[in-house]
Amino acid sequence: MSDNQLRLGVNIDHVATVRNARGGAYPDPLRAAKLAEEAGADGITAHLREDRRHISDADIDGLMEVLSVPLNFEMAATPEMQKIALRHKPHAVCIVPEKREERTTEGGLEVAREENKLAHFIAPLREAGCRVSIFIAADKRQIEAAHRIGAEVIELHTGAYCDAMAEGHMDAANRELEALREMSSFAHSLGLEVHAGHGLTYDTVQPIAAFPEVRELNIGHFLIGEAIFRGLTPAIAEMRRLMDEARA
Ligand code: PXP
Repeated sequence: MSDNQLRLGVNIDHVATVRNARGGAYPDPLRAAKLAEEAGADGITAHLREDRRHISDADIDGLMEVLSVPLNFEMAATPEMQKIALRHKPHAVCIVPEKREERTTEGGLEVAREENKLAHFIAPLREAGCRVSIFIAADKRQIEAAHRIGAEVIELHTGAYCDAMAEGHMDAANRELEALREMSSFAHSLGLEVHAGHGLTYDTVQPIAAFPEVRELNIGHFLIGEAIFRGLTPAIAEMRRLMDEARA
């Protein structure tokens, strides 16, 4: 992969959401992950939530077994999740904030206030060889704190930008985009690898994909929804095409 190429991580959580709606075995997130791999995903992302509302422990066991591309394991900073991550040693661990009552991961992690605790939390994960990524807002304080605690990667939360776009609030969307642009560049200048994600669609992906410092996008909900209409392989192929076009 060239230095300029942008990786696409496909998040398969919501295949599990549909499966769990009936409590059976299908649709199977592992089958979706393998198909995503064949369709050109550079990695698979899965979030094992504390309440197991979508991805299950067995899904993570299965993904570790069947994937040929790296697994980006999203998790909250809890002792239970740390133990699971240390057992599997996935390629990457992305630490995300988690509240039971939220529908999705609503904001970035508060790193600055929890610096000591998080530094201790991620140290064993790094020693185990996992690339540790911290999911944060485009906020200088949080980025500096993520750098100080020893994270190698930050993932910038694109949710506020995508929400503003969806609501047609172009001024707000442009402000969010500008903050994401500035903070990608700032994080890169500190030596952090920059990823981005949350809420991205065909309509919102290109301005983010065009930031030269961004190395990876993690996209799930929209792609799984779009797969209903076009199939997973074409849905991913179109995202890949838009990313490459923006990058060029
Ligand atoms: N990145 C992170 C850290 C996330 O928590 C999520 C949602 O689980 C995503 C990316 C993907 O977001 P979406 O499903 O909205 O594309």
